[in-house]
Amino acid sequence: MTAHHGAGHRHGHQHTDIDWEVMAAQLETNGEIQLPVLRRVADRLRQLFAPEKEVRRILDVGSGPGVMTCVFAEAFPAAEVVAVDGAPGLLDAALARAGRLGLDGRVTVRHAELPAALDDLGTADLVWSSKAVHHLGDQQAALNGLAGLLRPGGVLAVAEGGLPSRYLPRDIGIGRPGIQARFDAVLEDWFTVMRADLPGSVGVVEDWPAMLGRAGLSGTGGFTLLLDLPAPLDPAARAFLYTHLTRLRDTAGEALDVEDHATLDVLLDPGAAEGILRRPDAFLLSATTVYAGVHGVR
Ligand SMILES: C[S@@+](CC[C@H](N)C(=O)[O-])C[C@H]1O[C@@H](n2cnc3c(N)ncnc32)[C@H](O)[C@@H]1O
Repeated sequence: MTAHHGAGHRHGHQHTDIDWEVMAAQLETNGEIQLPVLRRVADRLRQLFAPEKEVRRILDVGSGPGVMTCVFAEAFPAAEVVAVDGAPGLLDAALARAGRLGLDGRVTVRHAELPAALDDLGTADLVWSSKAVHHLGDQQAALNGLAGLLRPGGVLAVAEGGLPSRYLPRDIGIGRPGIQARFDAVLEDWFTVMRADLPGSVGVVEDWPAMLGRAGLSGTGGFTLLLDLPAPLDPAARAFLYTHLTRLRDTAGEALDVEDHATLDVLLDPGAAEGILRRPDAFLLSATTVYAGVHGVR
């Protein structure tokens, strides 16, 4: 739901070890809620290509259940779009989604464990990776590898960074005001531990345009698009927030103080009028930031 938080994971020592398969429904729901933004992203990326450039092959690296993969297939009708992921169940979901949308033959899947398999993916005109690079230990090396897949005039775009989502007023009438900022703080710490636990973890200043420049790309920069769902939310958005808060409690709940933990329990009480499933003031403001660069000078 945020750019990088709210992931599910197994309990125990490896508390940042994420089980992507159990995230399938949440990832697909999130993608569907974000569809208006994802379509605008595809439009913006099309503008980065020279007018005469034909986009024939697109790689969606760390595709999850393929929501953006299918958006690309619709937005670039001449392209073959490949969903690449390390979780077979998510690739099955991507294929099923493509079938439901009548995109059979346009969307294929490729099971690949990153970063090792980067060299085997073949070249592409557009390489897209959303919220996956930050799950690899060496983010600069990952960008270098992704940029190395580009054909001349091709574009590498990554959805990374951005802002945490907002979905509650400052004062929600229970507990201490400002709980959303404290949720963000514990999730940031969870994220830091998650990154430190990754194999080959390397610290880097997360200046994404500069990192794309070091990967050899030109014209690097970023743009941010907003999803603005005002209150009252529909049931799908509420269900999404319910899952997000459940995962927050599972992953980072221990880091909250007793009062905030109790407030979170109320938010997750399906029967409570103050719960996220029923309260009238829940909204969703979510910013997606995309950083991109072009292979070769146009
Ligand atoms: C946060 S999800 C993002 C999914 C989708 N791109 C989106 O924006 O909703 C990260 C995805 O990267 C995949 N992934 C994470 N680490 C990976 C690795 N080392 N190799 C291959 N896939 C990986 C996960 O299976 C998951 O589908």
